Amino acid sequence: MKNIESKLVESRKYKPDDKFIASSNLSPTDLKKLNNLYKEDPDNFWSILGHKEIKWIKNFKSICTGDAPFYEWFRDGKLNVSENCIDRHINKNKNAIIHITEDNKKQIITYDNLYTLVNNFSYSLKNIGLKKGDRVIIYMPTIPESIIAMQSCARLGLIHSVVFAGFSSESLRNRINDCSAKVVITVDAFMRNGNIIQAKDIVDKAIEDENCPTIKKCIIYKNLGKKIDLKDNDLWWHEILPSESKIVDPEIMASEDPLFILYTSGSTGKPKGIVHSSAGYLLNCIITNKWVFDIKDDDIFWCTADIGWITGHSYVVYGPLATGSTILIYDGAPTFPKPDRFWDIIEKNNVSIFYTAPTAIRTLMKLGENLPDNYNLRSLRLLGTVGEPINPKAWIWYQVKIGNKKCPIVDTWWQTETGANIIAPIPGITHTTPGTCTKPLPGIEIGIVDEEGNDITEINQGGNLVIKNPWPSMLRGIWDDEERYIDTYWKKFNNRFYITGDTARKDENGNIWIMGRSDDVVNISGHRLGTMEIESAIVSHEYVAEAAVVSYKHEIKGEAIHAFVTLKNSFKNYNNTEFSIQLRDWVKEKIGSIAKPDRVSFSDSLPKTRSGKIMRRLLRNIARGEDISGDTSTLENENILVQLKNIL
Ligand code: WT7
Repeated sequence: MKNIESKLVESRKYKPDDKFIASSNLSPTDLKKLNNLYKEDPDNFWSILGHKEIKWIKNFKSICTGDAPFYEWFRDGKLNVSENCIDRHINKNKNAIIHITEDNKKQIITYDNLYTLVNNFSYSLKNIGLKKGDRVIIYMPTIPESIIAMQSCARLGLIHSVVFAGFSSESLRNRINDCSAKVVITVDAFMRNGNIIQAKDIVDKAIEDENCPTIKKCIIYKNLGKKIDLKDNDLWWHEILPSESKIVDPEIMASEDPLFILYTSGSTGKPKGIVHSSAGYLLNCIITNKWVFDIKDDDIFWCTADIGWITGHSYVVYGPLATGSTILIYDGAPTFPKPDRFWDIIEKNNVSIFYTAPTAIRTLMKLGENLPDNYNLRSLRLLGTVGEPINPKAWIWYQVKIGNKKCPIVDTWWQTETGANIIAPIPGITHTTPGTCTKPLPGIEIGIVDEEGNDITEINQGGNLVIKNPWPSMLRGIWDDEERYIDTYWKKFNNRFYITGDTARKDENGNIWIMGRSDDVVNISGHRLGTMEIESAIVSHEYVAEAAVVSYKHEIKGEAIHAFVTLKNSFKNYNNTEFSIQLRDWVKEKIGSIAKPDRVSFSDSLPKTRSGKIMRRLLRNIARGEDISGDTSTLENENILVQLKNIL
């Protein structure tokens, strides 16, 4: 099997500006020291960081023990994650959470308030009989109470599993049953896009008719004050709180005790319950917050991810709180009431660090390319992206329109499974180029290997992206499915390294470029191409908002390319044969005839997971004239499949 070929050249370079460099958390000397320390003695590297960043109840005795694929970190160490996130920062008069609702109410919670709220809710959870190790489902929007619920679980050693509140009752039911949860915590209802979503009804439907036999109680936080159907096992959040404030001692947890289970967004098969540990997970969250997001005492950090995703866990809840930072959370749609909502919130609240996803950037660009011009975004000093490769067109727009050409952009590559950033720029040091997540962070060894697991040493030759060393925040397994854990992440290369499932190449400067998922590679006349570069070339056309590329069988070439394209609103009527010919020539010009799509089709949107990832698997089914196969429960916009099938 040949390597994956790279055809697209992008060489624009951006340096951090002097003002940013002068105050950044890491200097080039610091970075060199960290890298050398790791090279000389990885255990010592992690030991120093472990001691420095975490408040231990009892010190650990070893660093990393065990063999692939089962590692343990910081054995014999005892800690409590919630104590690290909250108790450490009280009595400093510092804001923890700035909360904005969709209908524009604002609430500020200090660390002292948060301490009281978490202790009281921990008391309630304990009172209803929950014990260390029990699983608790949190089915809530991104509001302070969901953070309080997560932190209370951590305080008591309960394993939480946050289920994104956009999931259906069936998806919720499957997750409840997969981890045998005892309690669901939810809200009466919440607002999204001006509509009221009755979350409690969805929970009722999930657990009705004894469908979830392990569930003992459902706790409901009165969020909008909507009428609900109160069942026998339902408890109002406000009714189970103690009448006077209580202090609940943090449970003494072992380093390896699971902190949470999080089901992956699942652009491929059935969702996997990814298990994360306590100490190791916390450590990588903390150091990446400091190194990559350059977090400081006076920053206001807004990570737009929903708490239902790993980004919401690591960069809304655990990382920023453990570093004692101030976070902003917005419980609403980015386009409500208009697609300038993000910019308005940044201006009004002096957000200084902003972290979002390429899908959001592309959407806001599609719906309001010049809307940011109406806002003063000068409080921003750092921008981040995560979730997908960011195409250069979107990167540049982000840099110019949002970052005013002065904010470094950190394109952070990582996964639910890795727990924290793995490949990312150090903002005061790294020179960036649109489309690359640059280099692995200190302590991480990345490899790009061929189908036999041999290193690909040639520049710009693509292969499987693997991680060669264990790291503290790596997943500890898939809940209740050891075999699937080994099969998915380790088996192909005999446990030699962690398999990310992504493909990537390394350029002449040592920068890593993600080329797409391994499953999505297309094979045209014997050339293996990643989907990312072809899609990026299509999207660089002025009329185009989004594109997804898949292959279908072709008699001569083996496989041919089908491009699914969404046009910008103002160019919608170009969805015709003539323009598709133009677009094919455009790709030929940008990449070469090898990548020229044989078929182009236009639609209003593309099938995506609820976290915004394009589900190429479904598009492949459509392009190949097959029935849609596999799990579609993570699909966000079911209707689009009908439109796409009719177009063909
Ligand atoms: C997959 C992981 C990690 C938080 C959000 C997604 C893709 C993620 C990047 C990036 C290119 C990226 C990869 C990865 N991905 N970040 N900066 N550049 N691709 O978490 O749902 O577990 O998805 O997202 O394909 O494997 P996730």
